[in-house]
Amino acid sequence: MRVLVTGGAGYIGSHTAVELLEAGHDVVVVDNLCNGSEVALQRIEEITGKGVDFARADIRDREAMDAVFAKHDIDAVIHFAGLKAVGESVGKPLAYYENNVNGTLVLCQAMEAAGVRRIVFSSSATVYGSEAPVPYVETTPRGTTSNPYGTSKAMVEKLLEDLVVADERWSVTLLRYFNPIGAHPSGKIGEDPRGIPNNLMPFIAQVAVGRRDELTIFGNDYETADGTCERDYLHVVDLAVGHLKALEVAGDPGISVYNLGTGQGISVLEMVNSFTRVTDVPVPYRFGARRAGDLPAFWADASKARKELGWVAEKTLDDMMTDTWRWQSGNPEGYR
Ligand code: NAD
Ligand code: WQD
Repeated sequence: MRVLVTGGAGYIGSHTAVELLEAGHDVVVVDNLCNGSEVALQRIEEITGKGVDFARADIRDREAMDAVFAKHDIDAVIHFAGLKAVGESVGKPLAYYENNVNGTLVLCQAMEAAGVRRIVFSSSATVYGSEAPVPYVETTPRGTTSNPYGTSKAMVEKLLEDLVVADERWSVTLLRYFNPIGAHPSGKIGEDPRGIPNNLMPFIAQVAVGRRDELTIFGNDYETADGTCERDYLHVVDLAVGHLKALEVAGDPGISVYNLGTGQGISVLEMVNSFTRVTDVPVPYRFGARRAGDLPAFWADASKARKELGWVAEKTLDDMMTDTWRWQSGNPEGYR
């Protein structure tokens, strides 16, 4: 297949491009580089020994998207491009709806015009909202999202559902990721946040490498085993393989939705302790106040992906720590 990967210069997109190329697919990347790096694309080529066609373009630019579809005979789209900072989205809702919702709208219009009706979308566990029973299961309806980022994901899911209702030739797969972490085992590509990391794993990695003094653990008075929040962390390479499976197995017309997670909750303290145990690098931390909007604990029921896609998260927490550290210690400033 020739696959258009939007956002392919970013964290999850770059890892997915590697898996696609290694499975024999061709990859075309569209990315405006607002949070991605061209160096990541070079590294993908180093890892796989294969070329990536790259168009620096914005998915909201209809002319540019039409040109991409005219130039390449695309069979399917994996759509990662979007903004993803939860806190930032509260202050900039218009930017988030513009990029994530309107961006997807324009992308789908260009796909429709080109006769490409197969899309795999990067959704998020956040669409379950705060009331859903844990573990989250796909049969639970979307809940009330608590920030514009999450709402934009729910809106795009709905947009794509409506598309399938209107035209049964469309094939849509919604992948709801839990907490992707880690890096490619080569150490050549990984997560490279700009500014202060919002997420736990890159923050731990930047403390370990000396870019930040200490980690603040947001709250230790939750009703969990050790008082800190629990999440379902999965290795980004497992997540990338999940996209490959979705593309190869779930290609029938209609809509399908899958959780991609390990099915296991890990606490913030366990994360810090296992990083230090595996890498032997200390991570100074202190306990701080709870972060607004955080839920105490959630993880995936990942049995549907196992049954229907034949996908399970295979890598261990130790793999996640080892690979994060190989990437961060080898690239202390990321791609810069
Ligand atoms: P990322 O920021 O590393 O990658 C996104 C890429 O999209 C970047 O390279 C950026 O430059 C590009 N981009 C953004 N807006 C664009 C636009 N309008 N036109 C073209 N390119 C654009 O993020 P990521 O962690 O790789 O996430 C990928 C997708 O997965 C996002 O849609 C995100 O919401 C979703 N997701 C991520 C997580 C997570 O924890 N990382 C969890 C659930 C869902
Ligand atoms: C994990 C845990 C924090 C940083 C977010 C989005 C979600 C999805 C994944 C895209 C929490 C704690 C964190 C720090 C800390 N993204 N923490 N100190 O909040 O589960 O999910 O990313 O869809 O939508 O909301 O992930 O990595 O931010 O936090 O103690 O400096 O680590 O409180 O318990 P989260 P996270």
